[in-house]
Amino acid sequence: MTLDIAITPSDSPRGEDDVAQILDNPGFGTHFTDHMLTVEWTPEQGWHAARIERYGALSVDPASAVLHYAQEIFEGMKAYRHADGSIWTFRPEENARRMVRSSQRLALPVLDPEDFVQAVDALVEVDQRWVPQNSVEGTGEKSLYVRPFMFAAESFLGVRPAQHVRFMVIASPAGAYFKGGVKPLTLWLTEDYTRAGRGGMGAAKTGGNYASSLVAQQEAIDQGCDQVVFLDSAEGRYVEELGGMNMYFVYADGHIVTPETGTILEGITRSAIIELAQKRGHHVEERKFSIDEWRDGVASGDITEVFACGTAAVITPVGTLKWEGGEVSGAATDDAGPLTLAIRQALVDIQYGRDDDHFGWMHRVC
Ligand SMILES: Cc1ncc(COP(=O)(O)O)c(C=O)c1O
Repeated sequence: MTLDIAITPSDSPRGEDDVAQILDNPGFGTHFTDHMLTVEWTPEQGWHAARIERYGALSVDPASAVLHYAQEIFEGMKAYRHADGSIWTFRPEENARRMVRSSQRLALPVLDPEDFVQAVDALVEVDQRWVPQNSVEGTGEKSLYVRPFMFAAESFLGVRPAQHVRFMVIASPAGAYFKGGVKPLTLWLTEDYTRAGRGGMGAAKTGGNYASSLVAQQEAIDQGCDQVVFLDSAEGRYVEELGGMNMYFVYADGHIVTPETGTILEGITRSAIIELAQKRGHHVEERKFSIDEWRDGVASGDITEVFACGTAAVITPVGTLKWEGGEVSGAATDDAGPLTLAIRQALVDIQYGRDDDHFGWMHRVC
C-alpha cells in the first residue's frame, strides 16, 4: 500500500431510501455512488494527491489533451456482495496489469498494480452501502460496477505524451444483465469496419477503440442484430471479438476454441473460462479462428455452442450470425447450450461466493 489516500466524506450523500430504490433496479451505468477517487501524476512528483471526495462534475480546460488526442485508458470490473455481507472483487490484479499494458501503449504513466488495487478497494469500502445484496435463493446477479480510468489532463495542444495525468475510480450499481433469463444473441458480421490492426491499439483498453466500434455497432442494430463481430484487418478472415466481448466456440467432441490474434482485448473473463473449461476436462485452443470455420462448423453441426464473454454480461450465448446476404443459426437459437450454461454458473457461483474459490480468484475488500 503506497498511496496515501485522503478521504473527505460527501456532505450530501444520497438518502437511504433513495439508495434502496436505486439498488432495487439499478440498470447499468446510470446511477453513481456518493464518492470518486482521484490521483494526479506529473513527471516531477509522480503519483500524488490521492483523494476520495464527493462524486461530482470535473472542471475541464477546453485545451485538455484528452479532448483532442484521446490519450485515455480504462478498466471495467465488479464488486460482489456475498451472502454474509462481505464484499469481494474478481482478480483485480489482472485488471491492474491490463491497465499497465494499456498505459504503456498509450504513453501514459504506469500505476503500480498494488496501488490500483488499493485505490479500487478504498472507493468500494467508502461506498460499500452501494454494493447490492442478492436474493437469498442465490440467483441474483447484482453488483457494483467499478470503472477505473486514466487520462491526459494537461492543457496543451502540442502532440506529445501529457505531462499531467489523472487516474480516477468511479462506481455504479449494476443489475442482472439479462432480465428474463440468459437469451442467445444475434450477431452481425461487419465486412466494412475493423477494430484493430497490426501495431495498433486493439490489445489496449482505450476509448478510441470503442469510438471506432460505434458505427459498426450501429450497422448491427440497423440489421436487427444485437452486437457486431469484427474480423482481422489484414485478411478480413479471422474472427477477433465483439465490440465489448471475447468469443468461444464449442465443438461436438468437447474441445473449445477461442480466438487469439494479438490484436484482441484479452478479457479477464476469457482467461477464467480457459481455466474453468480445462478443469472440466475440455481441451481449449487459443488460436486464429476463421469466419469460414465458424460458418461451416455451425452449419455441419461440428460446432454445437457459441458464446461471448465479458465482465458486464459474464457469458452470453450466441444464436445466429448474419452477414450481407446470408446467415447461419446454431443449435442454441432459443436457449443457451449446456456447456455455456454450466461454465456461466460455475463462474458466477465463485464470484458471488456460492462455491469454493478453487482458483484463488476472489479478493476481499471488506
Ligand atoms: C473489446 C472488449 N473485448 C473483451 C472484453 C472482455 O473483457 P473482460 O472479460 O476483462 O471484461 C471487453 C470488456 O471489457 C471489451 O471491451
